[in-house]
Amino acid sequence: DKCSNGSRGALVVLEGLDRCGKTSQSTRLVKKLEELGYPAELFRFPDRNTVIGKMISSYLNSDSQLDDHTVHLLFSANRWEKRSLMESKLQSGITLIVDRYAYSGVAFSAAKGLDIEWCKAPDMGLLAPDLVLYLDISPEKASERGGYGGERYEQLEFQKKVAQAYQVLRDASWKIIDASLSVEDVEEQMRGILLDCAKTCRNGKSLSQLWL
Ligand code: TMP
Repeated sequence: DKCSNGSRGALVVLEGLDRCGKTSQSTRLVKKLEELGYPAELFRFPDRNTVIGKMISSYLNSDSQLDDHTVHLLFSANRWEKRSLMESKLQSGITLIVDRYAYSGVAFSAAKGLDIEWCKAPDMGLLAPDLVLYLDISPEKASERGGYGGERYEQLEFQKKVAQAYQVLRDASWKIIDASLSVEDVEEQMRGILLDCAKTCRNGKSLSQLWL
């Protein structure tokens, strides 16, 4: 068993605009890790299965209206409700591939005009990712992909603002992945980086807290 020596899993976050391909890539990465002997699980935010997640889902489908600050705090609360579960999985040696995290929270709310520091505050103290993979695609190209336009934020002009907010938010540690390529080529760009990260964590890198 991989966890018997106390080594932990890696916390890996995928970020990007709507329709950048995060969801299919997350699933593929979990499979790939498992094949290579790294136990892995998929998490995604918003997690629509909780009570808070259902409120968020109804808002995203435009079945309910909420103040921008209110929905921001719900997205953050939805991450906090998973924090201890995520920590125990990581400590038991499972690598978590997370489809969106606090960076989505800040980028989407900042794109509406909310203050970035205000947006970051409620997520301070969540688990900090060991790796952030940013699936980079132009808003125009993403908008041409199938299924676009179904939910509240899937509009070209808004996605342009989200892209700008991600630019402000990202730091030198983020790995920028060209997400305009084929599914296979996108995965290929991430595989080596991901395995390096999983190894570093297995070898004892400690978990830290976000934005503290
Ligand atoms: P999804 O399509 O990945 O399920 O995400 C739903 C939408 O919610 C997507 O447009 C991004 C947005 N979002 C936020 O506005 N704040 C957040 O904290 C998260 C996780 C997602």
